[in-house]
Amino acid sequence: MISNVRPVVTSLSSSFISTSAQRLTAAIVESRCASNSKPLQRTSKAMAGVKMLNQIFNEDCLETMSRMDDESVDCVVTSPPYDDLRSYDGYCFDFEAIAKELFRVIKPDGVVVWVVGDQVIDGSESGSSFRQALYFKEIGFKLWDTMIYEKNSPRFAGHHNGNRYTQIFEYMFIFTKGKPISQLIIDKPNKWAGHRDWAGQMKKPVAEYGVRHNIWRYVTSFNSYGHPAPFPLDLAKDHIRSWTRLGEIVYDPFMGSGTTAVAAIELGRNYIGSEVSSNYCQMINNRINGIEAVIPFTILDK
Ligand SMILES: C[S@@+](CC[C@H](N)C(=O)[O-])C[C@H]1O[C@@H](n2cnc3c(N)ncnc32)[C@H](O)[C@@H]1O
Repeated sequence: MISNVRPVVTSLSSSFISTSAQRLTAAIVESRCASNSKPLQRTSKAMAGVKMLNQIFNEDCLETMSRMDDESVDCVVTSPPYDDLRSYDGYCFDFEAIAKELFRVIKPDGVVVWVVGDQVIDGSESGSSFRQALYFKEIGFKLWDTMIYEKNSPRFAGHHNGNRYTQIFEYMFIFTKGKPISQLIIDKPNKWAGHRDWAGQMKKPVAEYGVRHNIWRYVTSFNSYGHPAPFPLDLAKDHIRSWTRLGEIVYDPFMGSGTTAVAAIELGRNYIGSEVSSNYCQMINNRINGIEAVIPFTILDK
């Protein structure tokens, strides 16, 4: 059940929206001119509503999604409130309704990245992460991958005389309705780089880098920008690079401190966000204002 959700639908100040959108538009035009940019080849025709692009809506995400067309979003990168681990200004969310709306708005070849961990309640992990993953499957999503976000520092460290190992990861569930468009990140150094087999049969030597595995390690940020639970900017960027192309639409229904929006801007993607707390919206405004779109020239966008 949704409780304590303010009914006001207020987007951030129009000056912020337009400057941010203009920067992004300029960036996308520039990127389309780049010889290495691929044409967009999504299967669906719908866009999330151009009027909604590059804005954060201060409202319940169900309200935002109710204004989106079916199959109009390329990618969702998000992290929901975890059990009641943190108070997030007192708001809670209706998981099942949100999951169904995500299913409706995501494109057939789009991806939902759901970053989640469990609270320990009365000695037992809540299992909410698993329940949510299975519910996504129940309503028609494929569980494409169960990835791990490994943190450099734990919330609760194990003790020499304790009885529980240090909890050091969260799940990054990857959901899709069909077969996702992807550009896998190729940055794992190959042990046998440059090697040719003994008989010299191989046409090419082993490449310097291979596709990375599905456990990703990041430096954890605590209370950055005044939000209790931001995920790392690089985590958002790596997913956006993996599952979208320049100019596509990334939605975060739980925008928090604005990490997904910053990542999208810096990678030349469009963003849409929802954040129910007006305090956090103000924080996003402060954070995002002044971010310049950076057109990536990496192996990923070639
Ligand atoms: C785990 S935090 C997201 C943190 C974010 N990934 C970041 O990097 O800053 C979850 C956020 O969801 C917001 N929230 C909770 N229920 C919501 C709802 N129904 N609609 C929109 N936002 C909601 C909370 O206020 C909180 O800021």
